Order: sequence, then C-alpha cells, then structure tokens
Amino acid sequence: ERPDALPYDLAGVRVVISAGGTREPLDPVRYLGNHSSGKQGFALARAAAQRGATVTVVAGSTADPGDPAGVDIVRVSNAQHLADEMTKRAAEADVVIMAAAVADFRPIAFAESKIKKTDSGPAPIELTTNPDILRGLVTGREAGRIPADTVIVGFAAETGDETGGVLDHGRAKLRRKGCDLLVVNAVGEGKAFGTEDNTGWLLSAAGTETALPLGSKTLMSSRILDEVRELLTDGDN
Ligand code: CTP
Ligand code: CA
Repeated sequence: ERPDALPYDLAGVRVVISAGGTREPLDPVRYLGNHSSGKQGFALARAAAQRGATVTVVAGSTADPGDPAGVDIVRVSNAQHLADEMTKRAAEADVVIMAAAVADFRPIAFAESKIKKTDSGPAPIELTTNPDILRGLVTGREAGRIPADTVIVGFAAETGDETGGVLDHGRAKLRRKGCDLLVVNAVGEGKAFGTEDNTGWLLSAAGTETALPLGSKTLMSSRILDEVRELLTDGDN
C-alpha cells in the first residue's frame, strides 16, 4: 500500500544497502559490538523498494526492525564479511548505501576455545583496525571494479567536539571518504541509536549542503533517495 504522495521513480534501479552493526569475534562465545539498530538502513530499503528499486540489504546485528517486504536480505556478522558482500554486490549496483555501523576495530586474535578466568586476572585485548568498506568502494570505483556511474552514499554519526561542530566533522569526513553523498547525523543525548527520529545534514561531493530537519527515519530516507535520484539522472541513468 504505497502512499499516493510517494514517487515511483526508482524502477529498475539496483540498490544495495548495508544496515546494523558488526560483531567482531573474540572467542566462540564473545564479540565486540555496538548498539546500531539497523532502523535507518531498513527504512531506506523499504522506501527504495516502494519507489520501484530492486533492493538488497546486507545486514549485521539489528534490533529486529522487521524485514521489509520485497527486499532481499543477506545476513553477515563481522566487518570482513560485510566488506566481502558489499564489494561483490557493488559491482552490480546502481546505488550503494553504507548505513551500517561498522566496528572500527576488531580483536587481533580469535581464541579458538573460550577464554577462561584465571587467578592472574584477564589478559588485555589487543585490537587492530578493520578495513574501511566505504573508502574501499570509492577506490574500487576509481579502479574500475565498480561502475563509474554507481552512486555511493555514506553515513556519519557526529557529536562535534573542541576541534569543530557536527557539520565541520561531516565535511571533513565527506572529503576523506570520497563518496557522492554523506548523511551526517547529529548524535548524543539519546539521539539516533535505536530511536525513531534522526536529524542532520545531507552533504554532496558537488558541495551542496541540505539540512535534514528533525523527522522520522522514513522521512529522512525519502530525502536521501530524492538526492540519489538526482545523481542518477545527472549520470544519464
Ligand atoms: N564505514 C565503513 N567501514 C568502516 C568504518 C565505517 O564502511 N570500517 C562507513 C560507515 O558505514 C559510514 C561511514 O563509513 O557510512 C562513516 O562511518 P564513521 O564511523 O562515521 O567514520 P569513520 O571513518 O569510522 O571515522 P570515525 O568513527 O573515527 O569518526
Ligand atoms: Ca567509525
């Protein structure tokens, strides 16, 4: 039951969206994870499918947002699995959206058997940095492994700090990542994680900066897809 107001303008467009958090295993029973609910990624998937797109969601850990109708869902656990799936699927996508909360770090070693308590107390956990999937997609496109006209969208959750505000951090991240669009979420004080509403900015590589007013993740999704649609049109898609 598509609301009449919703445009049907993504027919035939192949969209791949990552959603949720990654879980970085420590031993067979433990992992490092985060509180990502997957709601934003799933809201995007639902909105894109309603607008006619062929949608695949590559989902890590989520707070069971309910599987959207007409959307393919692939489940992954850690960042490496997510990287593999996204890289493979981006080669055949018109739009790739990295809405997942990818763990920046993972334990350097996986203990094959459960780590036991000892009298000497716990050993420190050594971490190493995960691959930057979004950056990898952009460099993959530059190298021709992903079509030149594939639109790549990233997300950023920022709080602002003594070096700059949310928007400053967003601009710097857009430059660093090299994606076409960056959705910048203002987070902190109960915002974003697990909540229904988001607020922030939509920054484009072309330099446009659109405020995303406080609204539901559904509304935010349609704003993002409007801009994606524009980029597809620009590329004669
Ligand atoms: N991302 C990714 N691979 C990672 C980390 C992040 O693809 N290893 C993606 C996220 O899915 C998001 C974007 O990069 O679309 C920005 O994530 P964010 O955590 O805000 O940026 P980082 O580059 O990890 O920088 P930091 O956490 O230090 O702000
Ligand atoms: Ca990060």
